[in-house]
Amino acid sequence: MEMKLITKRIDKIDPLSIDDYIEHGGYASLKKAVGTKRLDVIESVEKSKIRGRGGAGFPMSIKLYALAQQSLDMKYIVCNADEGEPGNFKDRLLMEKDPHQIIEGMIISAYATMAKKGYIYIRGEFDRSLEIMKHTVEEARARNFLGKDILGKGFDFDLEIRSGAGSYVCGEEFALLESLEGKAGRTRVKPPFPTSVGLFGKPTLINNVETFAALPAIIEMGGDAYAKIGTPTSTGTKLISLSGNIKNKGVFEVPFGVSMREIIEKLGGGSDSGKKIKMVQLGGACGPIIPEYMLDMVIDFERFEEFESKTGAGALIVIDERFDIFEILLRIASFFDHESCGRCTPCREGNIHLTNTLRRFQEYRATERDLMSLESQAMVMHQTSLCGLGQSSPTAIISTLHYFRGTYMRRIEDSMDREA
Ligand SMILES: Cc1cc2nc3c(=O)[nH]c(=O)nc-3n(C[C@H](O)[C@H](O)[C@H](O)COP(=O)(O)O)c2cc1C
Ligand code: SF4
Repeated sequence: MEMKLITKRIDKIDPLSIDDYIEHGGYASLKKAVGTKRLDVIESVEKSKIRGRGGAGFPMSIKLYALAQQSLDMKYIVCNADEGEPGNFKDRLLMEKDPHQIIEGMIISAYATMAKKGYIYIRGEFDRSLEIMKHTVEEARARNFLGKDILGKGFDFDLEIRSGAGSYVCGEEFALLESLEGKAGRTRVKPPFPTSVGLFGKPTLINNVETFAALPAIIEMGGDAYAKIGTPTSTGTKLISLSGNIKNKGVFEVPFGVSMREIIEKLGGGSDSGKKIKMVQLGGACGPIIPEYMLDMVIDFERFEEFESKTGAGALIVIDERFDIFEILLRIASFFDHESCGRCTPCREGNIHLTNTLRRFQEYRATERDLMSLESQAMVMHQTSLCGLGQSSPTAIISTLHYFRGTYMRRIEDSMDREA
C-alpha cells in the first residue's frame, strides 16, 4: 500500500552527501527540465494535476503560470518549511533525510518561472533541519546547481535559508512573507495574492516542502504518468504523519485514495494500548475529529473539503477510548488561544471564549447555554476570521458538535447531577 516516490531515497542515502544524491538519480530531473522549454515544464506540472501539500490544496501549475507570465526582473520562490502544526512532521523528515530533492524542485520552479532568488523558511525549533539545509545549499552552489549560469543554460538562481520566528501563524503564507521581510508575522488582507504581490512586493511562488519535493518525480516520469497515481482529482502520493495511540508512529507515503482504516491498521499496526480507537483527528490541530466508524473514508482533497477543512497537510492523530474528548478539545483550543496573533477580533477573543467554555465542559460545569454559545462562537470564528488560523481553529469543535453531540449532552446532564 505504501508507494515511495518522494521518500524512495530515505535511509538509503547520506543526506549530507550530494554525490550520494546524484548517484541515486538526483538532479537528473533538473537536467531534463532545463533541456526543455520553460512552458513545457509548467505544462508537465499542469498535466500532473498536483495540488499543494501544505494544507490548502491549490493547484501548483496555476501559480507557476501566474509567475511565469510576468516579465519582471525580480521574482521569488519561497519554500514553506515552517511546519508548526501539532501532528505534522513530514517536512522535517524530508529536510533531514533527502534535502537536495526539495532544492531540486525549487530550482526547477525557478527555471520555469525565471525567478532569480529563493528562500527556505524553516521552523526555528528545527535546528537539525536548518543545519542540513544550509549545508545542502552550499553543496548545490559548489556544483553550479545554484548560482550564475546554472548548468550552462544561462539562468541564475540562488537560495537563502531563513529561520522561522517561532510562531505557528508564520506558516500562513502572508504571515510568512511578512516575517521574511523582517516584520511581525501577521497575515495580510487578500487579494492581492503572492503570485502578483508577494515578497518585498514582487511576484512570489510559495509552496510547501512536500510540493517542491514532488517536482523532480513529476519531471522524471512525466505529468500524465504522475496523474495516473491516486484518484482522478487528487493525484500522486501523500505523506501521512501518523501519531497518537498507534503502534507504528511515523511518516508513510501512500497514493491518494487509500482509506484511513488501511493506513491505521496496516501501516500503523492498530492501537498501541489494546484499547479501542475512538476517534481520529485529520490534518493536524486545525482539522476535524471524526469517529472510528468513519475510518473507511479515503484520503483525498475532496473528502477533506466536505468538512470545510483545508487541512490536507496529512496528519492522522489516533485517539483511543481512554481519552476524554473535552480534555483534547481544551488542549487544542489553548494552543490556538496562545498562537492567535491578535490582529482580528473573532480569533483573538473567540479563542479565549472557546477555551473558557471548554474548560467548563471538562470540569463538569457545563450548561445548555454553554453548548449554544460554543456552537455560535465557533461558526462566527470560522466565517469571519481574517486568516486560516482563526477560520480553522474551531474545526475540531464544529466536527465534534456534529459527530459527538451525545457526549456534549451527557456532560451537561452529568454537570447538573454534580451540581445538585
Ligand atoms: C495558520 C496557518 C499555518 C500554516 N502553516 C503552514 C506550514 O507550516 N507549512 C505549509 O506549507 N503551509 C502552511 N500553511 C498553508 C500556507 O498558507 C500555504 O497555503 C502553503 O504554504 C502553500 O503551499 P502549497 O500550495 O504547496 O500547500 C498554513 C496556513 C495557515 C492558515
Ligand atoms: S485569524 Fe487569528 S491569527 Fe489570523 S489574523 Fe486574525 S487574529 Fe491573527
